[in-house]
Amino acid sequence: MPTDVAAPPHARKSSTRHYAMTAPEYFTVEYAINPWMDTSTPVDTERALAQWHELRGIYADLGHTVDLVTPRAGLPDMVYAANGGFLVARTAVVARFAYPQRAAEADAYAEWMARSGFEPLTTQHVNEGQGDLLLVGSTLLAGWGFRTDRRAHDEIAALTGLTVESLELVDPRFYHLDTALAVLDDTTVAYYPPAFSDASRERLRQLFGDAIEVSSADAYVLGLNVVSDGRNVVLPAAATGFAEQLRHAGFEPIGVDLSELLKGGGSVKCCTLELHS
Ligand code: ARG
Repeated sequence: MPTDVAAPPHARKSSTRHYAMTAPEYFTVEYAINPWMDTSTPVDTERALAQWHELRGIYADLGHTVDLVTPRAGLPDMVYAANGGFLVARTAVVARFAYPQRAAEADAYAEWMARSGFEPLTTQHVNEGQGDLLLVGSTLLAGWGFRTDRRAHDEIAALTGLTVESLELVDPRFYHLDTALAVLDDTTVAYYPPAFSDASRERLRQLFGDAIEVSSADAYVLGLNVVSDGRNVVLPAAATGFAEQLRHAGFEPIGVDLSELLKGGGSVKCCTLELHS
């Protein structure tokens, strides 16, 4: 009998996570700042709330901690908590938004950070938090091209001490990094290659030889906008091809319908700010 039994191929291990979420109490689409938003499409706020509660329930069932940020009237996009900032260990960087319609969210998220015991740090240049700042192991993948200013990447590297890899986004449909790339565990990502410039695509190939590349069909339902605990991957239910790829790679896909929130151009990850340990 071998004494150390090797893990089965592709075994994936989950770890307990800490998230913050903001209920879509005031969610509407009253302005359009990304190609997914159409102000003539009616939004069912009650349905958005029900879908959001389902997502929150999934995290609870998986054993994760979810802190709640109080939503504010007049800030319809505040539900996309990922954009509130970037938190790692005791460092909390608050967002600086690209569009004036979202600017006041930064104060709301900074207040929540302060109340949670962090000292919110700011950047001079635009950064839209975890919409564009995704931690993989100890490397920070940082998007630029539509929202986060490339110069903010250096500021965030200095504030956090993390190694930053800047990635250029080129397709307006995939305006935040978290719409084009999913972090699955400390070394594994999935992404949609056409969303990136040639140079960034090449860099992703160098960094992640075993990355999952998703199809247009999955990318166009925001299938990459997922939250993973290393094993369980909560993803938009419509991304069925990606779910199959995940299963094949040893992950556990959990589909959730956030169709109302898709009308604002966001899904699972956008609604979830992770407090990285
Ligand atoms: N309507 C919001 C905006 O355009 C959606 C943000 C989605 N969030 C995200 N992390 N991708 O800013």
